[in-house]
Amino acid sequence: MVDEGTGQAMDAENQGSVVGARGTPTLTVVRDYEAMSCRAADVVVQAIQAHPDGAITVPTGSTPSGMYQELVDRIHRGDADFSRVQIFCLDDYLGQTPEDEASLTKLLIQEFLEPGDIPAENVHFIPTTTADPHAAAEQYEREIVEAGGLELAVVGLGPNGHIAFNEPGSGPDTRTRVIDLTQESRDQNAAYYEGAEIPAQAITMGLGTILGAKRILMIVSGQSKSEIVRETLTGPMTSDVPGSWLQLAGARLEVVMDKDAASALKE
Ligand code: GLP
Repeated sequence: MVDEGTGQAMDAENQGSVVGARGTPTLTVVRDYEAMSCRAADVVVQAIQAHPDGAITVPTGSTPSGMYQELVDRIHRGDADFSRVQIFCLDDYLGQTPEDEASLTKLLIQEFLEPGDIPAENVHFIPTTTADPHAAAEQYEREIVEAGGLELAVVGLGPNGHIAFNEPGSGPDTRTRVIDLTQESRDQNAAYYEGAEIPAQAITMGLGTILGAKRILMIVSGQSKSEIVRETLTGPMTSDVPGSWLQLAGARLEVVMDKDAASALKE
């Protein structure tokens, strides 16, 4: 773990088994949501400073809102330059457009892409409205390769352990694809919108795609995630908890979480 005051890396070996991974993940525990958002923005900005035309993934959900606010502030202050960064969206509902109420892309546009003045030509949206989603998903994978691969994958953690929309049952070699959503995830996401019907399917970047990133940043906040954080980081790697496959990333993984989210982990 990283001590919140000092930012020093603590030995993460006792945090769980990382079978087959090279090195151990960095677990950074900070005071609260605001500190998590700042630290996450630091990691993103460091990555794009090192690779100004690199590719990154951007998550949706409630967790990254503070990070986006922080990034937008830094862009406006001239402390972060996203003008050449390639942005890849992680997931969205099949058939939804940004004009639809329950669109994750719309959230992303509102919270980050528009206020951050991200050049439209650098944004790779999830192909939700194509006639052939399977072919479009394959094309999305090719776009990632053409962008030089993912420099940094920023992801959240769903209450059931999903990463992007890799629901339970998703293995570590999954690629971008159409997926059936669990009722639990549909209910969770319905909370973002008032009365919107959440579609039964989504397109999500695969776990294998995410694991191919040079670095992975997972951000988590809140007591309600503490048990799934523990299972994800210290439990066995299993498709029942898709996030647990991120242990395979070893030292390429940094988890930034607040104290509440980390509360079920042993020191
Ligand atoms: C959503 C998204 C994920 C997100 C996760 C956590 O369903 N598909 O990409 O990371 O669930 O959401 P939240 O941050 O609101 O807890």
